[in-house]
Amino acid sequence: MKIVTIIGARPQIIKAAAISRAIHTHFKDQITELIVHTGQHYDDNMSAIFFTEMGIPTANYNLSVGSGNHGVQTARMMEGIESILLNEKPDALLVYGDTNSTLAGALAASKIHIPVVHIEAGLRSYNKAMPEEINRITCDHCSTLLFSPTNQGIANLVKEGFSTSTHAKASIDYPLVFKTGDIMFDNSMFFSSIANEKQGLVETLQLTPGGFILCTIHRDSNTDKPEHLNQIIRGLLQIQRVSNQAIVLPLHPRTRKKMTELLEPAVAEELQGNTSIQVIDPAGFLDMISLESNCSLVITDSGGVQKEAFFFKKPCIILREQTEWVEIVENGNALLVGSSEAKLIEAYHQLTNKKDFTYPPFFGDGHASEEICRLMIEHL
Ligand code: UD1
Ligand code: UDP
Repeated sequence: MKIVTIIGARPQIIKAAAISRAIHTHFKDQITELIVHTGQHYDDNMSAIFFTEMGIPTANYNLSVGSGNHGVQTARMMEGIESILLNEKPDALLVYGDTNSTLAGALAASKIHIPVVHIEAGLRSYNKAMPEEINRITCDHCSTLLFSPTNQGIANLVKEGFSTSTHAKASIDYPLVFKTGDIMFDNSMFFSSIANEKQGLVETLQLTPGGFILCTIHRDSNTDKPEHLNQIIRGLLQIQRVSNQAIVLPLHPRTRKKMTELLEPAVAEELQGNTSIQVIDPAGFLDMISLESNCSLVITDSGGVQKEAFFFKKPCIILREQTEWVEIVENGNALLVGSSEAKLIEAYHQLTNKKDFTYPPFFGDGHASEEICRLMIEHL
């Protein structure tokens, strides 16, 4: 079977490592994978670093689409992907998650009758103001195989009319839905021992294991609204003061740009003067999971990072009003605070005083990627 995999944004490159590894290790006689990088993310520390350190095969095609408004970016991707698909004639197209690269791949392939395989299907925030929610829904509804990581993902699909009954041959009109576990959990398990052996950022930044807070911010709802961005940074400054812990902030390029434009002068000055808040460039994956496994608390608006906090048994404050990963909130491992400074501080106190955390296996057993490959071979 020949599949074309679409990647573009950082989390997809990371996710592709899990499936490429499963194909290479167990299914290389049955599956040939071609990788298309849309170029949505292009800085070395948003793209190239992951290929190197996670052993992802070099992309067969790079569309170098770069940044742009949603319509322009998605259209450029679709044009490039369609032409590759017409040329390569794969048996299926595989997409991950919910970015514009996901949407472009799903639309381009389904229109020319190439089956779409969606990994991370069924996730919903029920907030259509998020560009990702539009991408998820559209992609799911033109997919042939839908692999959902969680029970909640399956329930969301059933609510939208998908059936969970099985039949041998899937098609866009009779799609098949499977719960497989989470390929990001596969990656975290696979790379955590490698990350721990490496001399990394925990040492370089002279962080005390168990004694620092990790934070990431990149959602447009937080970065592009001045009031939201300023509230979050003010909240971080206050948490640093009350916790007396270092805060490490590997900064997405979008956020770095917006902080320069939108931070109030007094907030910017206080941030710059606080040497315990370390604003650094985006980290590689090995450094990132080492930071996650050694920190005391995670504060994030990232979908992936909130899950990884759970994988590494860390409490998490989610800088969003909703999450697709409802299990971790319902189980008390994470709190949703939006972009409110007051709620951020309150959540900090609530989570630092809480003792009874549990970590049920919501995300599978670390072998979702193999299961997905097996199901593709069986049903395509
Ligand atoms: C995208 C995804 C989001 C995902 C995130 C992962 C969409 C709609 N959004 O958001 O779902 O959570 O990736 O990180 O697909 N930039 C650079 N260098 C880069 C990449 C981006 O400087 O290598 C800057 C550019 O100014 C660009 C901005 O970041 O305009 C936003 O990039 P974009 O890919 O449009 O959206 P993300 O916020 O990264
Ligand atoms: N990540 C990383 N370096 C960073 C920030 C995040 O390697 O500086 C990884 C993180 O460990 C996770 C993935 O990127 O595996 C999450 O991607 P991101 O936060 O960009 O997007 P989202 O998951 O919100 O779509």
